[in-house]
Amino acid sequence: MHIPSLLTERFSDALGRCDFATTIDHLDRYAGMIRPAGNPKFGDYQSNCAMPIGKLLPDSNPRDVAAQVIAQIQLDDLCDPPEIAGPGFINLRIKDSFLQTQLKAMLDDDRCLVTACESPKTILLDYSSPNVAKPMHVGHIRTTVIGNCLAKTLRFIGHRVITDNHLGDWGTQFGIIIYGYKHFGDPEIVRQDPVPELAKLYRVVHQLMGYHKSVASIPKLESELEHQQAEHSVAVEAANSAEGKDAKKKRKAADSLAKKISATESALDAARKTIAKTQSDPVMMQRAAEHPDISQAVLAETSKLHAGDAENCQLWEQFLPYCKDEINRVYDRLNVSFDYTYGESFYHSMLADVVADLTQRGLASESDGAVCVFLDQFEAPMIIQKRDGAFLYATTDLATLRYRTEHFSPDEILYVVDARQSEHFEKLFAVAELTGLSDARLVHISFGTVLGEDGRPMKTRSGSLIGLESLLNDAVDAAYQVVCDPERVNKLDPPMDDDEKRQVAETVGIGAIKYADLAHDRTSDYKFNLSKMVALTGNTSTYAQYSYARTAGILRRIGLTEAEVVERAKTSGLLLNHPAERALGLQLLQFEEALQSVSDNHAPNHLVDYVYATAETFSRFNDQCHVMNAETPDIQNTRLALVVLTGRVIKKALELLGIDVVQRM
Ligand code: ARG
Repeated sequence: MHIPSLLTERFSDALGRCDFATTIDHLDRYAGMIRPAGNPKFGDYQSNCAMPIGKLLPDSNPRDVAAQVIAQIQLDDLCDPPEIAGPGFINLRIKDSFLQTQLKAMLDDDRCLVTACESPKTILLDYSSPNVAKPMHVGHIRTTVIGNCLAKTLRFIGHRVITDNHLGDWGTQFGIIIYGYKHFGDPEIVRQDPVPELAKLYRVVHQLMGYHKSVASIPKLESELEHQQAEHSVAVEAANSAEGKDAKKKRKAADSLAKKISATESALDAARKTIAKTQSDPVMMQRAAEHPDISQAVLAETSKLHAGDAENCQLWEQFLPYCKDEINRVYDRLNVSFDYTYGESFYHSMLADVVADLTQRGLASESDGAVCVFLDQFEAPMIIQKRDGAFLYATTDLATLRYRTEHFSPDEILYVVDARQSEHFEKLFAVAELTGLSDARLVHISFGTVLGEDGRPMKTRSGSLIGLESLLNDAVDAAYQVVCDPERVNKLDPPMDDDEKRQVAETVGIGAIKYADLAHDRTSDYKFNLSKMVALTGNTSTYAQYSYARTAGILRRIGLTEAEVVERAKTSGLLLNHPAERALGLQLLQFEEALQSVSDNHAPNHLVDYVYATAETFSRFNDQCHVMNAETPDIQNTRLALVVLTGRVIKKALELLGIDVVQRM
C-alpha cells in the first residue's frame, strides 16, 4: 500500500487529459509531485504539480492549472473532493471508506500491506567486515547494524539480497599475533584458552609497535611544532601591522597556522601518552628494549604468511577458527548473520592473476617498481602491487569484485564502510569502470563516527578503542536499571521472575544500541549516550518496544487472541469514528512509504522516524480512545483491530531494524 504511487497514477491520467497535455514535455514528471500535507488541517497529502506547469504556460496561472487537473482527475474512490489552496496546491484528504477497506485487508496480510517490488534486483551487501585477530570494538557497530538493517529491508521489499562479510583475515593483524605467539606466547595457554590469550598477544605486540612508533615520531613532531610556532609568530606580527582587507586575510592565515599547531600538539600529547603507558610497566619496557624493530618484523611475518611459509600458514590455520569464534559470539548476541563470509584470505590465490590481467590489457603499468592503475581524476594512482611484490587491500577488493560479478551477477553492490575509506572506494569504482571489471552499480554506503561525551572518537581512558562486548554489557545493565526497576515490575501480574528480567534487559539493551545508531543520519557523527538510549520516553527503542508491549497488554487484559480480534473486526466491520483512530489508521498504511524511502536513500533513520511516529500516534490514540470501556461493541472491535495492526507494524519495523520485542515490560 503506497498511497503516493496510487495518487501519482491518477494524476498522470488526469494530466494527460488536460488541454496543455500536448504542449508540455515529460508531463509525467509532474504527476509524481505528491508530498505529505504541509498542515494536516488541509488534508493528508498535497500535489504540487500546478505551480511548475503554470510557469510553463504563458496564458495560464497555477490556480487555473489546478482547477483543470481537478476537473479531469478521477479520485472518487480514494479521496474527498480535492481543494485548491494558496498559489495552486491541490490538497488531498484520503476517504475514510478507503482507509477502512485497506485496514480490513491489512488484517489478513502478514506483510502489513507492503507489496513486493515490481522489478527486483540482485543486491550484494558487503558489511561488518572486521579485521579479525583483535576484539571487535565500538567502530564495528555502525557497519554491522546499518548493513543488517539495509539487508533485511531490501529483502523484505522483494530484492534478491546476498550478504557477504568481507573479513580482514589475512592482513597485518595476523602478522601481529604470529609474532606475538613466537616471542611472547605460551603454546600450552594458547591451547587451553585460545581466545583471550590471542587477544592478549595482539595487545602486547600492538602496544610495543605503538611505543616504538611514538618514540620515533617525537623528534619530528617537536621540530615541526617549533617551526609552526615560529611561522605563527611571524604571521601574527604581519596581521597586527596590516590594515583593512589585508589584515583580515593575514589574520586568517595566522588562525590556520594556530590550528596546525594545536593538531601537532595533540599528536605529541598522544605519542607521549603511548610512551608513558609502556614506561609505567617494567615488563613491557624490557620487551620494548629487546624488540626494537618489531614493526618491520611483524610485516616480515605477514609477508611470510602470504608467501606460503609452512609454519606461518599452519599458525594461521590454527588461530583463525578461534578468531572467528570470538566475533561469532558477538554476532550471535547481536542476532546478525551472513550468507557468506569469504574474507580476504579467500581471494589470495586470485591476486596475481588480477594484476597480470590488468597489466596485459595495458590498464596497469609499472611505476617506481610498483604496479599501478593511473586514473585521470586522481592525483595518486591505485597501487595494486608493491615494489616488494606484496599485494594490497585494493588488489583484494578488485579480485573480490571480479569474483562477485562472476558468481552472483549483482545489479548493485553496497559497501557499508566508514567515511574514512571514501577515497579507496572512489578509486575502486573508477578502476572498475575503466577496466570493465563489473557493470554492477557500486555504492559506498559511508557513515560517520561514534563519538564519546567529549565529542571525540570514543576511546577508553587508556586511549584504546572501546570493546564492543563491554559496550553491549553496559547497555544491558543500563536497560536493566530502567525496565526492571522494582516500582515497574512489581506492578506486573504475575510479577517478572529473574529469568524474564534478564531476558527483557538483554533485548532492550541491545535494541537501544542498534536503534540509537540507526536513528542518526547515516553520514553524521553521533555522541554515544547510554542513559538517553535506554530511556523510556523520546525516540528510543525502549519506547518503541514499550509501545509494542502495550498492544500485547491490551489483548491480554481483554482476554482475546490476535486471531479472535481479526475475526471480530471482519464480521462487525472497521469504522473510523474518532480523529485519533483515523490518524492511527493512516499512519499504519504508510509503512510501505517509509520502507521505500529507506531503500531509495539507503537511510535506516527513515524507518526509525516512522517507528517513532507510529508509537506516538498510537500513544495519542490510547489516551483518547478507550478500548476496554469503548462506547459500543463495534467501536471496541475497530479499536482492537487498530491495536493488533499497530503491534504487527511496530514489531515488523523493529525486526527490519534488527531489534526484538518483548511481550511485556
Ligand atoms: N576490513 C576492513 C576494515 O576493517 C573493511 C572492509 C570493507 N569491505 C571491503 N570490501 N573493502 O577496515
